[in-house]
Amino acid sequence: MIMLQTGECRGVELGAKLGRIFSRTKIVELCLKAVELHVHLDGAIRIKTIIDVAKRRGIPLPVRDEDKMRDLCKVHEPTTLTEFLGKFNHYMHVIAGDREAIKRIAYEFVETKAKEGVIYVEARYSPHLLANKGVNPIPWDQKPGDITPDDVVDLVNQGFKEGEKAFNIKARSILCCMRHMPNWSMDVVELCKKYSKDGVVAIDLAGDESLNCKAYPEHRRAFEEAVRSEVHRTVHAGEVGPASVVKEAVEVLKAERIGHGYHTIECEELYKKLLKQNMHFEMCPVSSRLTGACDPDFTKHPLITFKKDKANYSLNTDDPTIFDSTLNSDYQVVQKYMDFTEEEFKRLNINAAKSCFLPANEKKELLNQIYKAYGMQQSTSF
Ligand code: NI
Repeated sequence: MIMLQTGECRGVELGAKLGRIFSRTKIVELCLKAVELHVHLDGAIRIKTIIDVAKRRGIPLPVRDEDKMRDLCKVHEPTTLTEFLGKFNHYMHVIAGDREAIKRIAYEFVETKAKEGVIYVEARYSPHLLANKGVNPIPWDQKPGDITPDDVVDLVNQGFKEGEKAFNIKARSILCCMRHMPNWSMDVVELCKKYSKDGVVAIDLAGDESLNCKAYPEHRRAFEEAVRSEVHRTVHAGEVGPASVVKEAVEVLKAERIGHGYHTIECEELYKKLLKQNMHFEMCPVSSRLTGACDPDFTKHPLITFKKDKANYSLNTDDPTIFDSTLNSDYQVVQKYMDFTEEEFKRLNINAAKSCFLPANEKKELLNQIYKAYGMQQSTSF
C-alpha cells in the first residue's frame, strides 16, 4: 500500500514514485477511510491486465513490455482532450467484448481501491463502450460478438461483488451516457432502472462538453426519465467547458452532483447559488492539470476557492491509468500546493459520504463508519 510506505520524505513529482508527505500515523488515519465518487472503471485498468488479456486473446499491442505500455497509455504533460481520449485507443479493444476481462477489471478495481484506503467507491463507465453486440456503432473496431451493454453491467456487478467480499469495502456503479452518442442515452437510463437495486446507483453524462443538450435532446430525455424513475444524476460539466455547461447540467438535466465543475467560479451568480444549494463537486486535481482543464500551476487552482468557501466537494482520481496516479497522488498535491489540513481531509470525506448515491440507511452506516474512524461524534460539524 503506497500510503503506508516508509522511507525518506520526498517532494511530489507526478508520475514519479510517490514519497511520503504526512507522518506515518496521519497517513493511516486519513487514508484508510476515504470515499471516492468520480473514477472511471475503464480509466482504472491495470497495465499488467491489459497485457495478460491481449496475450490470451491473441490481440496485438503497440508494445509488449509493461513499463513501455504504461508509458504509452499515460499523459505526461498537460494536454488536450483529443490526446487524452486517444490514450483509450491503446487498450480498450483488448478489454471490450471479453467476459473474463470485464469481470477481472471490476474485481481488480475493488482490490486497488481497498489498498488505497477507500471504503466506499462509485465507479463509472459506459456499458456500450465495453460491449460488442446491441451497440451501434460497435466501438473500438471490434468484430460483432455476443456481449450486450446489459451483459457488461452484469459482468461488472459480478466482479464488484466478488471484490467486495474479498476486500471488505463497498463498490457501486454509475452508468455513463456519452455526449457524442445520443442514441445510447435511453438505453443507459433503462439499464440504471433495471439494476437500481443491484449495484447501479446513478446516471452520468460524459464526453465533449461543447456538445450541449439543445443540439442533443436525447440526453435531456434520458435524464428526465431518470428524474421520473428516481435514478440519481451526476454530470461532467465545467471541467474544460464554461460555467454555462454547469448551469445546463443543474437546470436542464437536474444534476444532483457536478463532475469537476472548476469553471463554475467564472460565473459568480451560479457559483453562489450552487454554494447555497450545497451542490456537491467531484474534484479531480491531478486530472485537471493533465487534461488542461485548469492552469497547470496548482497554486492557482479553482479548488482553492472552493476550499476557502467551505464548498461541498470530494477528491477523486478520475482516470488513474491515464494519469499514472493513485488517490494518494491527489491528496498529496492538495496538501502540498493548496494547504489542505487534516481537518479539511476529514471534512471533504464526510461531505463525500453525505453526497454519495447510496440509499439512506446505507449512507448512514457509511457515515457512522467514517465518524468512528476519525474519532468524531456524529454531531460534530465543520
Ligand atoms: Ni470523469
